[in-house]
Amino acid sequence: MDSILKIENLTIGFGGIKALSKVSFQVEKGSIYSIIGPNGAGKTTIFNCISGIYPPDSGKIFYKGEEITYLKPYQVAKKGIARTFQNIELFSHMSTMDNLMLGRHLHMKTGVWRGATFIYKGSKAAKEEVKHRGKVEEIIDFLELQVARNQFVVNLPYGTRKLVELGRALALEPELILLDEPSAGMNMEEKGDLMFSIQDIRDDLGITVILVEHDMNLIMDVSDRILALNYGVKIAEGIPEEIQKHPEVLKA
Ligand SMILES: Nc1ncnc2c1ncn2[C@@H]1O[C@H](COP(=O)(O)OP(=O)(O)O)[C@@H](O)[C@H]1O
Ligand SMILES: [Mg+2]
Repeated sequence: MDSILKIENLTIGFGGIKALSKVSFQVEKGSIYSIIGPNGAGKTTIFNCISGIYPPDSGKIFYKGEEITYLKPYQVAKKGIARTFQNIELFSHMSTMDNLMLGRHLHMKTGVWRGATFIYKGSKAAKEEVKHRGKVEEIIDFLELQVARNQFVVNLPYGTRKLVELGRALALEPELILLDEPSAGMNMEEKGDLMFSIQDIRDDLGITVILVEHDMNLIMDVSDRILALNYGVKIAEGIPEEIQKHPEVLKA
């Protein structure tokens, strides 16, 4: 297997709580890999460890064969790993466009704030700005966010905000994207659209996806493999058919 991400014996505790106990798994490049489990199972903690927010107590994380266990969040992002958060983290008094432009910051030579304040026409910075806007426009089209383009995020419906957050993560042009409950707060139709978008992210953009999701129907439809956690312990791992009938998973 050509794995893009490999997690070995990941362990982390908070006070008396073991949030993760020796969790190991591998994610194949170009796949949709889902993590399921009840509230408090440790799903978000895995994302926080991968993205450098929490240093684990022990265990190792490898990305494309290179250990990234103790890298800082911006270093992990620079390697090509983007994420969204369970609770949306956007600039609510900025437009969709500007939030996505902020997602480009790692690719900008001139810097977001210089770029945003004053630019000479025809200057290098102006040309760079045009290039980044082009990329962001592609993402807006891809996620069908045209209507939201110039609106402040604060004025958008919750489901649309979730899409803007996904767009911002895509603006980084990652190779691996971590999506923490992207369909939360969406209606059935929005959820369906989102699942098509997630498949397109893999198929058209070639990005590997790790998905944390509660809706089991969606999970079973889109996932190549699934990891089931309970109380920070891996209870099962396999293809959807295996997970669906796994006795431990049915109990949890
Ligand atoms: N920063 C933190 N401080 C204290 N406890 C935490 C922290 N982050 C997570 N936990 C605990 O770790 C466990 C796993 O949490 P989490 O990963 O958020 O679960 P999930 O995303 O599966 O619902 C929970 O018991 C939670 O309370
Ligand atoms: Mg969570």
